[in-house]
Amino acid sequence: MTVLVTGAAGFIGYHVAERLLARGERVVRLDDTNPSYNPNLKQLRAGRLAAHSDFGIVRADIADPGVVVGCLERAGWFIWRLRRGALVPRASLRE
Ligand SMILES: NC(=O)c1ccc[n+]([C@@H]2O[C@H](COP(=O)([O-])OP(=O)(O)OC[C@H]3O[C@@H](n4cnc5c(N)ncnc54)[C@H](O)[C@@H]3O)[C@@H](O)[C@H]2O)c1
Repeated sequence: MTVLVTGAAGFIGYHVAERLLARGERVVRLDDTNPSYNPNLKQLRAGRLAAHSDFGIVRADIADPGVVVGCLERAGWFIWRLRRGALVPRASLRE
């Protein structure tokens, strides 16, 4: 099973991705590693799983449809957890 985990450098996303990898699943990790809080901590989490993952972390904004489509082409499942209020910019919601 290949799973897309969004917010994968965040608290929940990191631990979910870690558990999935430990179970032998493949994980596509997406996170823009924005500076909402200590970006060094997010970089650390992103790097920690690199050795266990077939895929490098995708550092991009989930509001970019091309990025999401690209990730979903690799993953059959997704876990969608992001910081509240940061999922999609307001402007995108009006479109
Ligand atoms: N941590 C908790 O105890 C807890 C409890 C209940 C619910 N939640 C909810 O679960 C979600 C995740 O919580 P968390 O503690 O892991 O938060 P977090 O801030 O640690 O992680 C969110 C991650 O999403 C990334 N992100 C944010 N906007 C992005 C975007 N536009 N594109 C790509 N990546 C983006 C951030 O860089 C961050 O690494 C939140 O919605 C939170 O409200 C958390």
